Amino acid sequence: MAEGRYVPANGRFLPTALYDRSIAITMREGAWRPRLVRDVLNGDPREVLDLGCGTGTLAIAMARAGGRARITGIDGDAEILDIARAKEGSEGIDFVGGLADALPFDDGSFDRVVCSLLLHHLDPAVKRAALAEARRVLRRGGRLHVADFGRSHDPLMRILFAGLQVLDGFANTADHPAGRLPAMIETAGFHSVERTLALRTAWGSFEVLSADR
Ligand SMILES: C[S@@+](CC[C@H](N)C(=O)[O-])C[C@H]1O[C@@H](n2cnc3c(N)ncnc32)[C@H](O)[C@@H]1O
Repeated sequence: MAEGRYVPANGRFLPTALYDRSIAITMREGAWRPRLVRDVLNGDPREVLDLGCGTGTLAIAMARAGGRARITGIDGDAEILDIARAKEGSEGIDFVGGLADALPFDDGSFDRVVCSLLLHHLDPAVKRAALAEARRVLRRGGRLHVADFGRSHDPLMRILFAGLQVLDGFANTADHPAGRLPAMIETAGFHSVERTLALRTAWGSFEVLSADR
């Protein structure tokens, strides 16, 4: 990694085993995960990378959606990959250990790269490197999908996000409430960056972005 910090799925203080439950309670998953699955699989992609796949919830939902896509999930945490591999529906998904800023894949290997709730775990330099890696492993014409915290809608959302910053860290999260993610994606060489969804959650404002390679 460009910097030596690693923020695990459930932040710095809570056990990884509770991750799925805490996300279900706080992140309004039903309001965005199914739609994210549809958006990523739109156009019948063959190779899809779930970057920072965590417990595999999104990868498994994509695999279950049918279609011809082969799903690969990558994460830097061996413990969480064990949770993902043990889940029903994980058969057929390739779960790989590796870091977002040094992906073990050839250039142009994927039609889609999706990262949900990964980028706020990465310090700014690592975020930039991870976005550059996402672009490198995407084929020409491929598409990036990012679901993560975004510009705070209002002071309440900003206060709730401050609670998440206590758990997950400050340096890695600062770009999000400031609304800098779309510009960072563009700077990494993507174009046509679009915000397709913006939601209020118990941890602050959340957005789904997509961009063309
Ligand atoms: C909040 S979880 C999100 C998991 C999953 N994508 C989801 O939507 O539920 C963030 C994940 O990013 C992983 N992660 C954090 N830093 C990483 C890095 N530098 N490289 C790869 N994975 C990383 C963590 O291990 C964790 O599984």
